[in-house]
This record gives sequence, structure tokens and C-alpha cells, in this order.
Amino acid sequence: MLPRIALFFLVLSAAAVVAVRLRAQPAVPALAPYKNPALDAEQRVKDLLARMTPQEKAEMLAGSGWMESEPNARLGIPAIKMADGPMGVRNWRGSSSVTNAASTVPVTSTALPAGIGMAASWDLELVARGARVIAQEVKALGRDMILGPTVNISRVPLWGRNFEGYGEDPYLAARMGVAYIKSVQAEGVIPSVKHFAANNEEYERHRIDEKIDERTLNEIYFPAFKAAVEEAGVWAVMSAYNKVNGQWCAENPNLLTDTLRKRWGFRGFVISDWGSTYSTEGTINAGMDLEMPGGEAMRIWANKPETKLAGNGSGWLTADKVMAAVSAGRVTQAAVDEGVRRILHVMFTAGLFDHPHVGGGDVDTPEQRQVARTAANESIVLLKNSGGVLPLSAEKSRKIAVIGPNAAVARTGGGGSSLVRPEYAITALDGIKEAAGPRADIVHALGIVMEGEDAAKPPLELREEAVAVARHSDVAIVVVGYSPKLESEGFDRKSMDLPAGQDELIEAIAGANRNTIVVVAAGAPVTMTKWIGRVAAVLYAWYGGQEAGHAIGDVLFGAVNPSGKLPVTFPKAFQDSPAFGHYPGENLHVEYAEGIYVGYRGFDKHDVEPLFPFGHGLSYTTFDYSGLKIAFPTVSVSVRNSGTRAGTEVAQLYLQPPPSRVDRPVKELKGFARVMLQPGETKTVSFMLDKAAMSYYDSAVHDWVAEPGRFTVLVGASSRDIRATGEFELVR
Ligand code: BGC
Repeated sequence: MLPRIALFFLVLSAAAVVAVRLRAQPAVPALAPYKNPALDAEQRVKDLLARMTPQEKAEMLAGSGWMESEPNARLGIPAIKMADGPMGVRNWRGSSSVTNAASTVPVTSTALPAGIGMAASWDLELVARGARVIAQEVKALGRDMILGPTVNISRVPLWGRNFEGYGEDPYLAARMGVAYIKSVQAEGVIPSVKHFAANNEEYERHRIDEKIDERTLNEIYFPAFKAAVEEAGVWAVMSAYNKVNGQWCAENPNLLTDTLRKRWGFRGFVISDWGSTYSTEGTINAGMDLEMPGGEAMRIWANKPETKLAGNGSGWLTADKVMAAVSAGRVTQAAVDEGVRRILHVMFTAGLFDHPHVGGGDVDTPEQRQVARTAANESIVLLKNSGGVLPLSAEKSRKIAVIGPNAAVARTGGGGSSLVRPEYAITALDGIKEAAGPRADIVHALGIVMEGEDAAKPPLELREEAVAVARHSDVAIVVVGYSPKLESEGFDRKSMDLPAGQDELIEAIAGANRNTIVVVAAGAPVTMTKWIGRVAAVLYAWYGGQEAGHAIGDVLFGAVNPSGKLPVTFPKAFQDSPAFGHYPGENLHVEYAEGIYVGYRGFDKHDVEPLFPFGHGLSYTTFDYSGLKIAFPTVSVSVRNSGTRAGTEVAQLYLQPPPSRVDRPVKELKGFARVMLQPGETKTVSFMLDKAAMSYYDSAVHDWVAEPGRFTVLVGASSRDIRATGEFELVR
């Protein structure tokens, strides 16, 4: 215990310090220009910056906690309060503590399908609606920023985070990302497109150094970010954990300054991924503006052995380190000012000073649930339907076996920072029961436990039980796939195969019932060769969010006609994947040796037959294509519903380049259109081509080049189901 007198002096001297500090800083007038909403962001930032001390500026470059930037009470600068995404607002504990899905204070929000499922809808309007739901909930929960969308490309089927992104094609990923970002920003919420750049494997994600050539970066890994900047004017970009060509992304001037700002004109701020910084001057001088996390939360976390072991780096932009770097001349004050200016500019633009998000709106409203349900409906891809076993009819299929580790457990999302805690989640079993109606006899059997989960009975007993149930049913629906513990941020999948025992379960059920239907909930392709020829139908449901079960039931029974199309190629085996042999790398180095030949570009080039091609997806009706017209820059084609049910087709346009001085892909996606048609109805769909669609990236001139020549237009129902072709000449 301190003696009373000492305590008195202590209090006195503390008061003196505060007084000195306050006296040193001029008072802020109530009518200071930066407080005036009528002025533009630029003027307000200028005024505010001029009032800030070097210390106050330095404080703004790092977070104050796990999920918040540093506020400034003297000047009335609010904190940017963040929330993880991208498929809903993630749970967090306390206002700025460690986000954790297993939190003791649950925050619930609407769980939408994972990015890969949204991409499978090819529906930009839907993506915008989903993003609006997320932004509304961000505000309702009193936050300002959503850490999404994820637009990293699916390079290998084993990447643990494939489910978060929009698949293997840069054009599709770009369209999706732009729709998401525009919608979030329209709500005054800050998005953060992530992870820049080339975060395509979780294996050693903090240490891996990726060698990627300039053309490949620009043609495959950059376009979604470029579009986010150029078309959506994105307010924030999150740098990635990995190194690209020898430099960590958060200290990579090539990425953050030359590419993002100088070439694309990015005007927002760069936020680091959580614990991805390794120096003070390296990050600031490269153009990284806000280090996350910060404060006490960062210090506690940074000192944990597992954080160190993983290779995270953090705590480099604390105010004392920034000030020291400026004093030592390693960083200029102008560079610090610039970082603060960028952050403030976004804060003013988003309205954080004028309309703080105090929270309190509704979360998980009926309208938001409806968006989640529509999204789940549209995300499902019908991969196979032999003999028209689907849709099921309650008349013919009286007794239905529902089997498998994902039947009675809702797998709403993959694991990691994107996992949302919804109010409720509909399982496949519940959805099937509801869709089948009261007259159906639904029998459930587990068949096998999900790898890593507790078994109630020995595996053989579980399988035999399921086989017996299947044998005595009209239809057997086997719901398999992954779980968030097996497919997640932080590690890659062990293999492309289904987790242990699921292939054998499907084979056994298929042996017992010829009407076996497989439903897969997973974030990326799985190997199917063992059983694909023996089952009647396969439906890919991805991680469908809280309404996935309803969607599965409705698609199986035909209340919803499936319209999803694959945003990734399904290889027969992992060995067929173009990146095979160049993943995960050796001694912390990986070379993207397949170059631009990622996904279908690789399958086309090497003439490898996939199990299911990019863009594939069946419907319960049929579509005819005719009358392709090219009136440059417009391409149009007529699509007719030639079947007996209303349905939606996703018409895809691929462009085949003329012979070129560089090696170019056989074809590339350059347009798509969703079209809803009644039976017998015909509609004309149009696509717009521009010069960018014809161009390749020329590393010699560091720019895009469109060579003259004859281009072939391929329009069809998938990348390998081309129904109409035409040509046009590009003249110089
Ligand atoms: C992830 C980011 C996420 C952040 C904050 C990181 O580990 O890579 O995507 O937004 O954590 O939770």
C-alpha cells in the first residue's frame, strides 16, 4: 500500500501531465470545418489532419483492440468497429475482443451461403441482396466495417478457404466482388476486399513465399481486386498473410503502392490481415495503413506460443514504434500523414462521423431469411440426374431413407473467421421432411460419423443399419461432405476425397438401392470416381447457410428447379488439377508453375477431361440456344425453354482468341446471363464485349494488349457444352 501522501502526489502529477497535454493542444472549435457534413471529405480530412499531433497520427495506424481502430476522444474521431464476414456477420466477444465463434456472448446473424455457393448462382442481383443483408446487420450490431468479400481464386481443390471465395475464374470472381462491394458501400458500411494478393493455400500461410509471374498475377489473381478498385471504388483492401515474390504482402510496395494505387487508382486504405506485419518502416513505406489487431488484445495474443509458432507477426505500428521510426528517419512524417489521411477519408466518406452506427436494428428478419433461402436455392448445382430420378414425387417415393453425416447436422459454413452463428439452421433432414410432406415415411440413419466427431456406435454397425434402411426404401438420399473442422481457414484439406468412410458408405448404399441420390455439402470439389457411376443423382449444396436444408428439400422435390452452375472445375482426381505438383511447395516456397492455366484454362490446354466442367449444372427442364448475333460490342442469343417446367438457365459466353504472339488459353469466360423462362418461352439474352475481354497481359510492356484478329464467340450451358458459336474480327 502506498502512503496517503504519496498517493496524493501521484494523483497530482498525473493531473499535471493531463493538463500539460491538453494545454499543448489547441482547443477544437465546435464549428471546426472537419465537423461540418456539408464539406467534402477531402476538405474535412485536410482540416482534421492539421489539428492532429504527430502522436495522435501515429496512434491511428494500429488497432485499439481485436476488432476496432483507435478512436480519439479529443478530436471526436470514432473507432472503426469491424466485424468478420464475408457470408454474414461473425460472432465476437465484447466490443473489441477476440472474435470467436465459440463465444460466451453469442451474436447471431443471418447465415448466407458461402461465397462459392453464391458464385454458383451466377446471380449478381442476388449477391447484392445478400451483401445488403450483411451490411444492414453490421449496422444493427453497431459495427462499421465488414471484413469481406473474399475474392481469392480457387487454385487447388485442397485450399482450406475455397468455400469463402468465388471459384476459379477471375471474371466471375470480379463480377461477384463488385456486386458485393457496391451493395455494402451503398449502406454506408466499409467493406474490405481480401486477401491481397494470392492467398490460395492455408499451408504455412504466414511463411509461404509464392513465386508468381507478372502475367499470371494480372490475368488470374489480380482481376477481382482490380475490378473492386476500378469499378466499385472499394474503400478498403486487406493485405494477405503470404509472401508474393519474396515479400510479405503487408510490406509489398509492388502490390500496395505500384499496383493498387498507382496503376489502379485505389483511394481507400489498406488494412493488414490479423497479425501479418513484420516491420514498422517496411509496412508504412510499402503503403500499408492500418495494422490489425492492436492494443492489449494484440499483446496478449502475440505472446501466445501458438501465435508465434504459426508465424504471425504483429505490434509493429504501435504509436511508440511509429514515432521512433519517424525520429530515426526510417519513415517520413509525410508517409504517416498519408496513412492517416486515407483512413480518415474513408471514415468521412462512409459517414462514420456524421451517422455513427449506434446499433439496435433488426437482425435475422423475415426478409433477411428470405434472401438466405433464395440464395441457398440458387446455389445448389445438380451435377447428375440419370433416368430423371429427380425431382422426387411424394406419390412415387413414399419411403425415403435419409442417410449420412451431414443429414441431421446443418453445415452452414466452412471453418474459421467467416463462420456465422445463425438463430437457427435447417438441416437437410428437416428440409426433406418438410418438402416431402406428411404422407412420406422418412427414415434417418447416420451411416457413419463425420471424421473427428464422436461415434455412438461402431462404424460397421452404423453402416449396416443404414444399408438395411436404404434397402427397404424407395429412395436413399445420402448427405455427405465436409465439416468446419475439416475444411477451414488455417489449414488445407488433407485430400480431395470425402472424409474417412464416406465413399464406402455411398458405395454400400448404392449397392442396396438403385435410387441413390448423393447430396454433398462441401466448399470445393471432392473425388467421386469410386461411386459416380453407381448413383442415380448428385446434388452439390456447398455450405448453404441457415436455409440450406429447405433448399435441398425443395430442389429434391422440384419446388425449386435447380439453376446453379459450377464456379470451379471438378477434376476426376487431384492429380488432374493443373496446380498438382506445384502445391503446397517445398521449404516454404511454392511456384505457381501452371501460370495462367488455372482451373478450366488448364484442363482445356492439356485436354484433360474433368469429371464435371466449369459452368456445368443441370435443370429439370431443357434449354435450346439459337440465333447467335454479333453486332459488336453486343452479342445476343435466343434461349428457349424446350421442356415442361419453368426454369432458369445461366448462359455463358466464352471468347477464343486468335493465334497470338503469346500462348493464350483456349477460351475464357467473358460474360454470363441468368434467364428465367416458362415452358415454351424464348428470350434473347445479350452480352457486352469490350477491349478488356479481348486482351492479355503483356509483361514486356506491363500492360494489357488486344491483338487484332478473328475471335470466336462460344455461348453455351457450360465451358464444355457450347451451343452457339460466331466470329468477329478485331481490327487495329
Ligand atoms: C483472416 C481474415 C479475417 C481476420 C480477422 C484472419 O485470420 O485471414 O480473413 O478477416 O483474421 O478475423
